[in-house]
Amino acid sequence: MVISEHSHLYHSHNSPMAKSSYRNNKPSLYLSDCCLFLGGAVSALLLVWGFYSIPPNFDTILTQNDAVSLTCKTETHPVPDFRSDPPEPTFYDDPEIGYTMDNTVRDWDQKRKEWLLRHPSFATGANERIVMVTGSQPSPCRNPIGDHFLLRFFKNKVDYCRLHGYDIFYNDALLDPKMFGYWAKYPVVRATMIAHPEAEWIWWVDSDALFTDMEFKLPLNRYKDHNLIVHGWAHLIHEKRSWTGLNAGVFLIRNCQWSLDFMDVWASMGPQTPNYEKWGQTLRSTFKDKYFPESDDQTGLAYLIALEKDKWADRIYLEGEYYFEGYWEEIVGTFENISNKYNEIENRVSRLRKRHAEKVSESYGLKREEYLVDAGNGRGSWRRPFVTHFTGCQPCSGKHNAMYSGDACWNGMHRALNFADNQVLRKYGFMHPHLLDNNVSPIPFDYPVSSQS
Ligand SMILES: *[C@@H]1O[C@H](CO)[C@@H](O)[C@H](O)[C@H]1NC(C)=O
Repeated sequence: MVISEHSHLYHSHNSPMAKSSYRNNKPSLYLSDCCLFLGGAVSALLLVWGFYSIPPNFDTILTQNDAVSLTCKTETHPVPDFRSDPPEPTFYDDPEIGYTMDNTVRDWDQKRKEWLLRHPSFATGANERIVMVTGSQPSPCRNPIGDHFLLRFFKNKVDYCRLHGYDIFYNDALLDPKMFGYWAKYPVVRATMIAHPEAEWIWWVDSDALFTDMEFKLPLNRYKDHNLIVHGWAHLIHEKRSWTGLNAGVFLIRNCQWSLDFMDVWASMGPQTPNYEKWGQTLRSTFKDKYFPESDDQTGLAYLIALEKDKWADRIYLEGEYYFEGYWEEIVGTFENISNKYNEIENRVSRLRKRHAEKVSESYGLKREEYLVDAGNGRGSWRRPFVTHFTGCQPCSGKHNAMYSGDACWNGMHRALNFADNQVLRKYGFMHPHLLDNNVSPIPFDYPVSSQS
């Protein structure tokens, strides 16, 4: 069990600003101990606004902060400048370095490091910075409500990223027409690595997966010696040789040379290569429960873990202790009981139900942890499942796996989306009273106390 580790799952975003060299001529912030807290908060705002490149009223912030500086002077903190791009050459100026899969990049770790040195505003938090990547096909969905589902699945990811300060990239272009289907995500992940040297991690999340615990954060400390994290179970891959021993629909991959090399090998099983058919046969004969003939990325990954163990497996973390991504069928029936459990806790603990600004909500997730030590993780737990993945439901095409009824899929998705949305809307004063109903009601002050019978 990982219960005791959960107190370490959270990482403060309020760390002091980088003491980096200060390149532009914007005024510095003057802060002393007496207003460090406020200063930290303003810096965090600047950090977030700067990072998203939308400084709505930069001057106003500086003015307010100058007012603070009148009452308590001393220490100087540089204002980070996330837009500055000094003229000295970086890897971007090297015509040999490309974004596509067929372009080999060497010394990427060094190149990223040099870029970061030239862009010191990104130094703070660099080793935990995450860019989430997701996407869908370039054309409208065949399922009449498919695009509506995709919109809501995307909204959920935007919500999660906003709450935790992550960037997100939604791609709806097929970057390499020969790498279609399962394989389309790798050119996107690869291009994102080059586009985001400031990010340590790229987090791929399939379009049909959503966050059903908006508070939980990846336990990055646990992954410090690993470069690729997927939901999986070693014995199912090594002993059972099952192609579902892992799920490649959600993965976290470090922005480093190892990952570029690994993706080269992994993608060499894809449809853009002459060996595609042969790989299909090899994967199918190795993983007997694989029922379709095409080479697919998930079985390909399982193959590399099982058969090229010494080469790759020690850098791949199979996360099986919480719902890094969870199978929707075992999850969607648990939402009501989980909501009741969380409401019971909030009924007892006023500091958890206290109204607060969305920006500070991460700290409430941290406070909640001590009340969840008995909740467990994964199957049978009453902790909110982190990621619910609608594997086989195919919301866009509508051609769900024959194992499931359409209603089970569509109702499951509605319920999961509203379960997650309730955690977001709560900060805006509203909730969906019923998980299958997209309508909302305002919530009373001191919710959930006054609404309990
Ligand atoms: C929900 O809780 C009730 C009452 O404790 C229990 O009978 C039921 O089995 C639970 N449902 C699920 C899906 O766990």
